[in-house]
Amino acid sequence: MSNPELDVVEFLLTTTIYGERQDLDPDDLPPAYRTVFWSDGDIERPLSATTTTAREATGVERPWAAVSGLMFTDRDDFSGSISFTDTDLAEEWFLERADARSIESNPVLAAEYGDTYDVDYEVTRELNRPARADRAFIDAMLEEAFDSEDEDDEEMLDLVDVRAPAEVETTLDDLVLTPDQEGEIQKIVKAIEHRDYLARIGLREIGKLLFVGPPGTGKTSVARALAHDLDLPFVEVKLSMITSQYLGETAKNVEKVFEVAKRLSPCILFMDEFDFVAKTRSSDEHAAIKRAVNTLLKSIDEISLIQDEVLLIGATNHPDQLDAAAWRRFDEIVNFPKPDRGMRADILRIVTRQMDITDFDPNTLAELTEGLTGSDLRMVLREAVLEALTEERTTLTQGDLEDAIKDFEERDNLKNMDMIDGDHDALVAGGDFTDADSADTASDGGHDHD
Ligand SMILES: Nc1ncnc2c1ncn2[C@@H]1O[C@H](COP(=O)(O)OP(=O)(O)O)[C@@H](O)[C@H]1O
Ligand SMILES: [Mg+2]
Repeated sequence: MSNPELDVVEFLLTTTIYGERQDLDPDDLPPAYRTVFWSDGDIERPLSATTTTAREATGVERPWAAVSGLMFTDRDDFSGSISFTDTDLAEEWFLERADARSIESNPVLAAEYGDTYDVDYEVTRELNRPARADRAFIDAMLEEAFDSEDEDDEEMLDLVDVRAPAEVETTLDDLVLTPDQEGEIQKIVKAIEHRDYLARIGLREIGKLLFVGPPGTGKTSVARALAHDLDLPFVEVKLSMITSQYLGETAKNVEKVFEVAKRLSPCILFMDEFDFVAKTRSSDEHAAIKRAVNTLLKSIDEISLIQDEVLLIGATNHPDQLDAAAWRRFDEIVNFPKPDRGMRADILRIVTRQMDITDFDPNTLAELTEGLTGSDLRMVLREAVLEALTEERTTLTQGDLEDAIKDFEERDNLKNMDMIDGDHDALVAGGDFTDADSADTASDGGHDHD
């Protein structure tokens, strides 16, 4: 249970201590507090505690009302600033009520009172999300690096999508991984943690992963979840976008993507559709695109997790299209197969966590969904939910899910059907083959796909 009075006093105490202790830096402030004090990529002392900043930082709707009854608080009606009239008393009041948990999530308090609670300041700081991963910091950095008045720079920002870890909703807990995938992730987590050691022993060829597998098997989700769980900014580039850019500038833009990543480091640089690289090299593309792709390969060679603190993740649905030059850029290949029966059951359990389902039997559903990916299973669930809603039901049954699986398979067959040799029943609504009009429509459709 949250306690508005305690929350606001914690905020006031933190801003007071932070203002006095020059040895503390933004990484010591809890992220929720930092968001209200960022200004042009900086957090400057003193931190002004007002009803507005207190409300935004703590989520307490009426912060002054929450603490006005305490004898050591005061508000300046004109500026709205809230302060302590007696800091010692405030401190005493707070320490009598706070528990170790609230100290552990606030490095400023851990620095000041850690000993009293047997809380290790260094550990607390380590667990606190670093300021560099805040949206406000990322925006300030991008603004500094790129001129929003400059057209080329504007285009460049269309090419990449930068997310703060707090904006990524997927976590690794939401994903069902193969043992192989879990092992690779563990290795990377350890490599990031022991970066200094790896640099010292001269092990630099690490930190470039290629995710390989059919669409919908979780490649993008795992990359994002890593950003979320490791508190790293996520820089995503869609490589096919390179072709849609103004040709003369593409090579320069590729260099800028890497520049952004280095400036935001430590971060994850995610390159989707990596097969695009190989495709352009083999075909007779425009010279400017070839140049861009060569720049890309060179930039990949030059970037390093150990030196630049950039974890590079490539992803492809078409590993068969990659050439040797593309493969050898990566030090680990992570396979994303379609989920087996056990994984399908686990995915169904996760996807339905918040749902009401009578007689839910994920194992039986897993039997029925051979060949479906995680993404397909999500789609099945969505259909089942929408179907039930048409009957005003928010409680599903096992039968609803089984029906949704059948529907999904029918749709899937339709998708794979050759529209020209159209002797499939499904081409004609209701199986009515005698209606000349609908037969015409079907063959017209076939020409479109030619
Ligand atoms: N192994 C999995 N466990 C849980 N969810 C999955 C899994 N694979 C895919 N999904 C879900 O399917 C959707 C699409 O996955 P995505 O990561 O975009 O696949 P890909 O990038 O391989 O095409 C996401 O919503 C994701 O949560
Ligand atoms: Mg993807």
